[in-house]
Amino acid sequence: MQLHKHSEYQQNSNTVTLHIASSSDDLVYLSKSKVDLLLAINIKQDDEFIILDPLTAVYLTPKKGNSNRIYEKLRIAGDKFQALCTKSKPGQCQIVAKGLDSEEAVATLEGFILGDYQFNTHFSKENKKPQVESVIIVNDHISNKQLDELAIICDAVKFAKDMINEPASHLSSVQMGERITEKATAAGIKVEVMNKRKIEALKMGGLLGVNQGSEEPPVFICMDYKPENAINDTPIVFVGKGVVFDTGGLNLKTGNFMENMKLDMGGAAAVAGAIIAIARLKLPVHIMTFIPSTDNRPGKNALAPGDVITISDGTTVEVLNTDAEGRLILADALVWAKQYKPRLVINIATLTGSAARAIGSHGIVGMQQEAVEAMKELQKCGDKVHERIVEFPFWEEYDDQIKGDIADLKNLGGPEAGAITAGKFLAWFTDYPFIHLDIAGPAFAEKKDSYRGKGATGICVRLLTEYAKKIAQS
Ligand code: BES
Ligand code: ZN
Ligand code: ZN
Repeated sequence: MQLHKHSEYQQNSNTVTLHIASSSDDLVYLSKSKVDLLLAINIKQDDEFIILDPLTAVYLTPKKGNSNRIYEKLRIAGDKFQALCTKSKPGQCQIVAKGLDSEEAVATLEGFILGDYQFNTHFSKENKKPQVESVIIVNDHISNKQLDELAIICDAVKFAKDMINEPASHLSSVQMGERITEKATAAGIKVEVMNKRKIEALKMGGLLGVNQGSEEPPVFICMDYKPENAINDTPIVFVGKGVVFDTGGLNLKTGNFMENMKLDMGGAAAVAGAIIAIARLKLPVHIMTFIPSTDNRPGKNALAPGDVITISDGTTVEVLNTDAEGRLILADALVWAKQYKPRLVINIATLTGSAARAIGSHGIVGMQQEAVEAMKELQKCGDKVHERIVEFPFWEEYDDQIKGDIADLKNLGGPEAGAITAGKFLAWFTDYPFIHLDIAGPAFAEKKDSYRGKGATGICVRLLTEYAKKIAQS
């Protein structure tokens, strides 16, 4: 989609227009008859999206609220306008946003572009909803640089969503490695996809253990974006859970709990999308990304409950439940990160149903160890992009729940605080400032959720990119 900015309203009979107004002064371009029509409708004049006719909509912005809330309302309005445009099959779309500052204008466009996403590659016949080709924003403050940046970020979100929505029949671990390599290499990122032989040589017993029941080999994807002008001497590392399908293994998932489990590489897609966006934005920050990837299946060699495996640092683990596989493969990745002496590691994973049960799909469950300030900064970024993080406690009392009976650890905590004990399991393998984000709730939407859409949401791509921007400015 093409993005253009103009300082003046484009008068054209074939243009669908959204007029954004915080007061009636902003409606100067709306014809007298339409203003009358608007006045005749009983509106609250606050956070209302009104469709006057197939070519004209008006959005009355909220009267109160902090700027983050307004950005989100504008993204939602952008998505609604996108739906109107698609329906009206216009020659052109324009958003008249004279009263908005540049960030507000960006947010409106962001909702528009993200809302325009479709995943339609598997229909046997052409099944493509009409898509908007170009959109004009009428605003004096937004710059071309902001438009370019927005396009890069939205493209990275789309890349992540495409991978998550892709069923495991079409996205094995090896195929995910290939997709990421192609896109990341084009962005100037160094990529290495380690194969099973290399993973065996490195004794990554968590990743190999989970892979035992699979017909497909595992991969371990490493990415390194190191610009010459990087402001950090030791990297910030992103780790993402890359389970391309989670059947639960021998602890097979029951009922409909398995239905959407292609989403279980949502963490991997997020960190890949983010590093690609960061590289394309040429942010002066050294970032590395590690993705352990396999599927989790109950094949004949699959791990059995009670089996003991050895993680690459020598830690032994009693695998009491083969459905708690994410922490096993992530353990190897977190150990791998140690050699780079990272200044911070952010782990992203669709790790526990417990996180989703605790706060639903409206936010991310976060935990940190030795990273109080980084967590605060990340939360601020989350509030801004509306990928909000709730920090859970990480008290040492929880540690006891993952001590093993016949090995160092067990991969199952007690019946309570499952998201935290899973995080504690991960933290065992770290010796650096550590943040863990559990995105089991918000990674995948059962029904359309505004501009996030239905299916994969691509959560954390915008969060991590925003965080890197903040670090770049510090
Ligand atoms: N991939 C799941 C977690 C999940 C659940 C993600 C729902 C998205 C939506 C994970 O591997 C899992 O199965 N976790 C178990 C852990 C349990 C056996 C300790 C869970 O949460 O039930
Ligand atoms: Zn599982
Ligand atoms: Zn899983």
